Amino acid sequence: MIPIKRRQFMRYAVGALVMPVSRIVRADPAANEPGLVELGIEAGESRVDGDSWAGWLYTYNSQLPGPVLEARSGDTVRIRLLNRLGEATNLHFHGLHVPPTGAADNGFLMVPPGEVSNYEFRIPANHPAGTFWYHPHVHESTARQVSRGLAGAILIRGDLDAVPAVAGAPEYILVLQDLDLDSRGYPREPNMMERVTGREGNLVTLSGTFNPTIAIAAGGWVRLRLINASASRFYRLKVEEHAMAQIASDGGPLPSPQYLDELLLAPGERAEVMVEGTRTPGAYRVLNLPYNRGGMGMMGAFRGTEVLASLVYDGNADRRIALPERLFPFDALPQPSRRRSFVLGQGMGMGMGMMGGTNFSINGRTYNPNRVDTQARLGDVEEWEFVNPSMMDHPMHIHTNSFQVIDASGGVQTAWKDVALVRAGSRVRVRMKFSDYAGRTFYHCHILDHEDLGMMGILEIQG
Ligand code: C2O
Ligand code: CU
Ligand code: CU
Repeated sequence: MIPIKRRQFMRYAVGALVMPVSRIVRADPAANEPGLVELGIEAGESRVDGDSWAGWLYTYNSQLPGPVLEARSGDTVRIRLLNRLGEATNLHFHGLHVPPTGAADNGFLMVPPGEVSNYEFRIPANHPAGTFWYHPHVHESTARQVSRGLAGAILIRGDLDAVPAVAGAPEYILVLQDLDLDSRGYPREPNMMERVTGREGNLVTLSGTFNPTIAIAAGGWVRLRLINASASRFYRLKVEEHAMAQIASDGGPLPSPQYLDELLLAPGERAEVMVEGTRTPGAYRVLNLPYNRGGMGMMGAFRGTEVLASLVYDGNADRRIALPERLFPFDALPQPSRRRSFVLGQGMGMGMGMMGGTNFSINGRTYNPNRVDTQARLGDVEEWEFVNPSMMDHPMHIHTNSFQVIDASGGVQTAWKDVALVRAGSRVRVRMKFSDYAGRTFYHCHILDHEDLGMMGILEIQG
């Protein structure tokens, strides 16, 4: 069993591989007392045998991806993390609105090899339902740990799950992971140029399966929960001959379904889409269309079309359930009391010439764990502008509080986000309210090599 190389897997025709789908349907939630979700997670190194590939990876509980953490708003989550890796690790709960301090979503907490850490936090009663994820957050090692396999889905159940068309649809959790394995199945270490561009691998798996089959009933819906858990790879997704009805974004439900032909998912981003089986029964490819995220084409930031999965008709739906035109109310945040600007940069490095150096910075400074870069007040609304004069896209992520993106005309985009794609040569404004939780938290580029190379800052929310 050897990993399939990119050149080979791009050639797969539809129907060439029919994969079992069991691994990407949701895991059984553990039997817990009501209101409490408990999970033991062991980070370690394991050999993972996929259906058509095998590799030595970093895993949670020997699985790729890690176990699904499923909770309802109001639940308490308790996680015992045992670190069996040869290096420090920790857990970040990406997108959850929980404290950034103590035993909660604390990115300063490190778990040395062989040690245990107990995480505990409560999902607020008014937390939006949606798709979130967990992954390590160890500055300078995050890209390596995530690209070797460490990631898992978090599902918060709530009102969105009760919408009839959604509730009645089979659910697929698609954790998009980008692995880079050599011919013996060992992870390959990128060179500095690849890190500057943002590493991309040679094996994309969807919840651990290469080119899985997604079964759909003719006349019925499927619900896809998409999580870009790749270190740097972007996904410009398209389902052949099918529209996608997006019902949720990073931070939960949209006010109404958005019908899309394609969907761009930058690292860290999530989307929930509904697909309806309205075509002639058969097999249709789920494609990753070409995307150029800047840098220099020859360095691998540009790639061609890839086949990610197959949507295969299987049976007929008993009846058609319409997706409602409206989902849930959306409240735009009020005008900000403060505006800030963050200029994304590449500092001077070791003669990288046109690539502009190997240090990444925000407002001219590379990450320093002992420095607070931005101080804000609990309860305030602020507007942040990310300015990207560089030649590469930077998907900027903010911990703890989701934000609203302001479009060029000053209007508010009706979606809660925690990653905003700031394309090369452009600027993006986001508005957020610092609710509930004081403490130090992070903002950074979610091309994880860029975060590791310094494009991260510390935000202190003062209570
Ligand atoms: Cu998913 Cu600080 O990131
Ligand atoms: Cu995060
Ligand atoms: Cu970046």
